[in-house]
Amino acid sequence: MPKKLYLETVGCQMNVLDSEMVVASLRKHGYSLTHDPEQADTLLFNTCSVREHAEEKTYSSLGKLKRLKQRHPEKVVGVMGCMAQKDQKLIFERAPYVDLIVGPGQLQQIPELVSNVNAGDGRQVAVSLGRREGTVENIKRSHETFDPLRDTEMRPTPFQAYLRIQIGCDKFCTYCIVPMTRGPEQGRPPAQIVAEARVLADQGCKEITLLGQTVNSYCYKTPEETTNLAKLLAQLHEVDGLERIKFVTNYPKDMTRELLTAVRDLPKVSPYLHVPLQSGSDRILERMKRGYTVADYRDMMDRIRELLPDAAVSSDFIVGFCGETDEDFEQTVALTKECRFKNSFIFKYSERPGTRGADRYPDDVPLDVKQARNNELLAVQSAISEEDNQRFLGRTVDVLIEGPSKLTLRKGHQDEPLQQLTGRTHCDRIVVFDGNLRQVGQTLPVAIYDATAHTLFGAVVTEEIDPTVYTLQLN
Ligand code: 5AD
Ligand code: SF4
Repeated sequence: MPKKLYLETVGCQMNVLDSEMVVASLRKHGYSLTHDPEQADTLLFNTCSVREHAEEKTYSSLGKLKRLKQRHPEKVVGVMGCMAQKDQKLIFERAPYVDLIVGPGQLQQIPELVSNVNAGDGRQVAVSLGRREGTVENIKRSHETFDPLRDTEMRPTPFQAYLRIQIGCDKFCTYCIVPMTRGPEQGRPPAQIVAEARVLADQGCKEITLLGQTVNSYCYKTPEETTNLAKLLAQLHEVDGLERIKFVTNYPKDMTRELLTAVRDLPKVSPYLHVPLQSGSDRILERMKRGYTVADYRDMMDRIRELLPDAAVSSDFIVGFCGETDEDFEQTVALTKECRFKNSFIFKYSERPGTRGADRYPDDVPLDVKQARNNELLAVQSAISEEDNQRFLGRTVDVLIEGPSKLTLRKGHQDEPLQQLTGRTHCDRIVVFDGNLRQVGQTLPVAIYDATAHTLFGAVVTEEIDPTVYTLQLN
C-alpha cells in the first residue's frame, strides 16, 4: 500500500526548500502527499523558532492531532526544523504523542527514522551539536546540507525554485536564534550549486532564488581560489534556460561594489535587494550587535543608488527591541522615509531564550507600545510603497506569470481558462491582470494602469497586427 504524508510548513524560504527535499526523499520510499491528516500515515511539522508566535502556531497544530493520535497510535508524528533543534526533547513534554524530532541538519535521515518508529524502536531524536558542543569542524559536520533531492510539486510554481547556497549564520545578532538552530555559516561548493541550477533549468525552471541567511556573505575557498557571490552569479548566469536569478537575504556590511556591479552587468540577475536594516538607531543597532551603523547603511544605499538606480530595495525591521525609546523609534521612521524601501517586513521583538539578547537585556517595551510602533511604521512604509508604485503608471513591465491571483483563488475560479492572474516584475513587484491560464509560466509585457502599495494592475500587451499582413492572409 502506498503511504501518505501530511506536511505542514511554517517559517522562511529555507523551510519551504527543506520541505521540498523531505517530500522528495519520502517519495523515493513510496510516499505520496495528502492534505488530510486523517488519511496520513506520517504527519510532519516543519517548524520555525524566530518568533514565539511561530512556535505557538506549531504547538496549536500539534494539539489538534492529540485525539487523532489516540485513535490511531500507528500514525507517526514528527517535528522537524528549527524548533526541533532548539527545544529537542522538551517537545515531548508539551506534546507527548510526538514520535520524531529532527533538526534542520538531519532531514536526510527522516525516511530511516520514520521506519525505525514503524519498526517499534520507539521515539527517535536526531539533532545537531550545539554551538559549544564540540570543535568547529564537528559542529559544522553535524549541520549537514541536504540539497541534491528536488521535488517539483512542492515548489511555489514549477518554473520557480529556491536554491540554497549557504547554510547557517555566524553573525549572532543578539535577538536571533538562527545561529543556534542552523549552526555555523558554510558555503556550498560552487560546482555543486551550478550543477543544481542546471538540473532546475532542465526541469523548466526560469527563476531561481538563491538562499542564505546572509547570502551576500557567501564564500567558498579552495587552495586555488575563493568564490564570492559576485563570482557565483557570473557562473550561474551562463546556465541556459534561466531567465531570472534572485538572492535573499542580504547583510548590509557585505553589499560590496563588486557584488552590485555584478548585479548591474548580469541582465538575468534581478535588480532587487532585500537588505534588512532592523533599526534606524545606532544605540539599538549596537545592542542588536548588527555590526553596522546608520552611516554604514546610508553608505550602502548610496552605493546601490549609484550603481543600480532602478533597483528595488526592501527591508526587515524589529520594533520594540529591548530598551527602544520613542526617540530611537522615530529615528527608524525617519530612516525608512529616507531610504524609500519597496516594502518592509515589520516584526514586534519576541524574546528568544538562548540568545544573547535574552541573557543581557530585559524585554522591557510593553506589547501595546510594540504594536503601536508596528502599526506606525507599517503605515509609513505603505504610503511610500504606494507613492513609488505610481511611477509605474503608463509603463510596460515584463512579468513572469506565476498563476491565479488571490482573488481568483478566493472565488474558486482557478480552473477557468480566462481569469485574473498574478506575477512579478524583474524587481519583484507584484502585478495583477486578466489573462489566460495557458500564459502561466511565460514572461509577458504588461502595461500598468493602476497601482496600490502592494500591487500593480495592468493588461497584457498583445502585439499590434499589421493590417497589410492581415489582408494578405485573408486573401
Ligand atoms: N523577534 C522579532 N523578529 C525577529 N527577527 C529575527 N529574530 C527576531 C526576534 N527575536 C526578524 C528579523 C529578521 C526576520 C527574518 O525576522 O527582522 O530579519
Ligand atoms: Fe539572525 Fe542576524 Fe544571522 Fe540574520 S544575520 S540570521 S538576523 S543572526
